[in-house]
Amino acid sequence: MAVGTATKHPGSKHNVQAARQAYYDKISKFHMAPLWEVLKGLVTPEPKTRCVPALWKFSDVKRLMLEAGDVISAEEAERRVLVLENPGLPGESRVTNALFAGVQLIMPGEIADVHQHVASAIRFVLEGEGAYTAVEGEKSQMKHGDFIITANWAPHDHGNPGKEPVMWLDVLDMPTINHFETSFAVHPEERMQKTNHEDGDSYARYASGVLPDGAPAQLNRSPVINYPYARMRPILARLKQTGDVDKRHGARVRYANPINGGPVLPTMGAHLALLPKGFKGEPYRSTDGTVFAVAEGMGTTLIDGKPFDWGVNDVFVVPPWKRYQHNASEEAVLFSISDRPAQEALGIWREGN
Ligand SMILES: [Fe+2]
Repeated sequence: MAVGTATKHPGSKHNVQAARQAYYDKISKFHMAPLWEVLKGLVTPEPKTRCVPALWKFSDVKRLMLEAGDVISAEEAERRVLVLENPGLPGESRVTNALFAGVQLIMPGEIADVHQHVASAIRFVLEGEGAYTAVEGEKSQMKHGDFIITANWAPHDHGNPGKEPVMWLDVLDMPTINHFETSFAVHPEERMQKTNHEDGDSYARYASGVLPDGAPAQLNRSPVINYPYARMRPILARLKQTGDVDKRHGARVRYANPINGGPVLPTMGAHLALLPKGFKGEPYRSTDGTVFAVAEGMGTTLIDGKPFDWGVNDVFVVPPWKRYQHNASEEAVLFSISDRPAQEALGIWREGN
C-alpha cells in the first residue's frame, strides 16, 4: 500500500505526507478520522483552558446596567441581564467553560415573569433593597450578600415593589446542561407564582439543626432557598476570632445542603470567605473554574501572575488550574462559586498549589 511503499524510499517525506493525506481524505468520507493526528491535544498532561482571568468593576457594570433599564423593560427582555463574557470565550455566553454568569437588574415596579428550566441558578445579591425572588412558593427578600438558589426545574419569578434598582449576580450551569444537550424550559400562563411560604421559611425549617419530620433522607440539592448574609457573616467572624483561617482561603464556610451535608446543587457549589486585614494568601489552584464576587472590603488577587484589584461588588473569574493568591488590604469577604460538585461527582476534581 502507498504508505508502506513510500517509507521505504529515502527522501520520500513528501510522498508519505501525500499518501497519509489521501488516506485521511478517503476515511473522512466514511466519517472516520485518525486519532494519532489529534491525540496530544485531546489527552493533555495538564488541564488546557480557553478561559482567561478577568475582572468586572462594579462601577462599570452598574452604569451600563442602568442604561439597559432605559432601552428594554424587564417584561420585554424576560430577564434583563448583562452576560459577563469570559474574554477568552466571546459570544459563547459563558464565564467559564462550565458556567454562565450575568448581572441582573430589576427596576422599581417591575416583574420578571415566572418560568422554570433544567438549568440551575444561583443569585448573589449585589446592590439595592426591596426586591424579592419567589422560588418554589417561597417569597424571599433580597439583601446584599444573600445567596439564593433555584434548583433544576424550580419555578421562579422576581419582582421589585421597592423604590430602588436592585442588581444581583446570576450564575447558572447552562453551558453544562447544554453540553449534555438536556435543556428544557416552560413559561406558565400566569406572570407570578402563588407563594404560600413566607420569607425565610425554608431556612428556618431546614437550616436550624432540626429537619421537618418526614424530610427526605436523600436529596441532591438543598431545600434552603435563601442563605441570608445576615446569618452567614457572624459565622465568619467566629472563625476569624478562633484563628480558623485557612492559609489559602481565609476563614471560609461552604454553603451546604442540610439533608446530606453535600453541595447546595449537584452542578454548582459555593463558599463565603473572610480575609482578615493584611491577609496574604498562599498560592492555590484547582480544576474548577471559579467566579468570585466581593461582598466586603478591598484587595488584590494574583491570578496566573497577574494582579486583579477588587472592591465591593466587583466580580472576577479564575480559570481552571490557574494559580491564584488573595491579598486583602482591608478586611474583606469573598463569595465564590464553581462547578466543583459536578467534577467531584465524576471523580475528576483536583487541587494543588
Ligand atoms: Fe430563570
